[in-house]
Amino acid sequence: MKVLVIGSGAREHALVRGLIADSDVSAVVAAPGNPGIEAVAPCEPLADVCDAQAVLEVAARHTVDLVVVGPEAPLVAGVGDTLRAAGYAVYGPSAAAARLEGSKSFAKEVMACAGVPTALAHVCTTMDEVEAALDALGAPHVVKDDGLAAGKGVVVTDDREAALAHARACLAKPGGQLVVEEFLDGPEVSVFCICDGTAVRALAPAQDFKRVGDGDAGPNTGGMGAYSPLPWAPPHLSDWVIEHIAQPTVDEMHRRGTPFVGTLYVGLAMTSRGPRVVEFNARFGDPDGQVSLARLVTPLGGLLYAAATGHLDDLDDLHHRPEAAVVVVVAAEGYPVAPVTGGAINGLAEAASVPGAWVLHAGTRLALDGELVSAGGRVLDVMAMGAGLASARETAYQAVSLVRLDGAHHRSDIALAAARGEIHIPGSDT
Ligand code: AMP
Ligand code: GLY
Repeated sequence: MKVLVIGSGAREHALVRGLIADSDVSAVVAAPGNPGIEAVAPCEPLADVCDAQAVLEVAARHTVDLVVVGPEAPLVAGVGDTLRAAGYAVYGPSAAAARLEGSKSFAKEVMACAGVPTALAHVCTTMDEVEAALDALGAPHVVKDDGLAAGKGVVVTDDREAALAHARACLAKPGGQLVVEEFLDGPEVSVFCICDGTAVRALAPAQDFKRVGDGDAGPNTGGMGAYSPLPWAPPHLSDWVIEHIAQPTVDEMHRRGTPFVGTLYVGLAMTSRGPRVVEFNARFGDPDGQVSLARLVTPLGGLLYAAATGHLDDLDDLHHRPEAAVVVVVAAEGYPVAPVTGGAINGLAEAASVPGAWVLHAGTRLALDGELVSAGGRVLDVMAMGAGLASARETAYQAVSLVRLDGAHHRSDIALAAARGEIHIPGSDT
């Protein structure tokens, strides 16, 4: 089987590595890929991942059997629809199904129809509605832009004025609409559900670190690190998520004539009243997907192809290795506010030679002179596997210490509280 992976980040680097490791996959091509991917698989130029015709042209030139679309933007833009119409097996939802990520109000409406546990929410199009919703739900306030906002659309605050200011900014956009939500307490979990339109399998849960600084200080980011497994989470959480969240959602999407094929990323808060959905995404998380995928033993190509062609039920249950996986993101100076790019990156070979560690490229490019330089806010994912979380994080941080990029920063507490047994679900005595 030949596979084309669309995207250019660490998530796509992880997908390419996973696909190459599958003996049923004969070739992997990425578009546009990145220098890390290029070291293991051919990369095709692709100026715009949302340009469906350009993606189709690459797929045709390489006569691929499966296209895996990594990021949300091309999915929401309908790249999957164009490929499917041309006869390709595609792992990634149609534009209609990707609305589960592309529109928060749509996701809420589907959750309500499917009986999925989530935060109470008010969809608002005027400031009067916003004021009423803030009064009804109380502080802390959660105000979410309705559309795709690359992680910057959500404000969680005790400050009513800040909530109102964010609401004004959301409503000022053309067709402005937002969602005011009940605040969910409790630690967050990411569960990646592989869906074929009717059946669902789930990867091992991961936890992401969204804030830029240690101790969850500072602004939200795309994710600064992650780990799996979650020793503090209830056993069989993935099965619970399938039964109560993913399967009812997939059934509801099927009933509407817009089946969901791809990754349903279930972002949960483990609240005192049980797990509640914080958000749906239509793709693997980044970097949280990387740790779940690192633990997956089931061959990735066969799994994604089965999902793309409606044959998940033909597969055995998914297998994961018991070892722990940790990822630490190395970010550019100034990330997330104003990342500095173009800095020389060194020490990657040394980092990757730490036993149990490897490095995924998130935002890198080769300069004209062939030097590897930073090209984004999140530059590298330093990955590690270990017997447990403590050893995996030790390996990851040893590798991080060998990476050299001026001004770079990373969190030093990824998986620390979990390794120390300090994470608790509110109201539970575990
Ligand atoms: P989202 O874009 O919906 O994933 O939200 C981004 C982040 O905001 C989440 O990862 C949470 O940390 C936080 N958040 C979103 N919704 C809520 C909520 N209802 N209660 C508490 N925190 C939330
Ligand atoms: N790490 C969060 C996300 O991928 O949305």
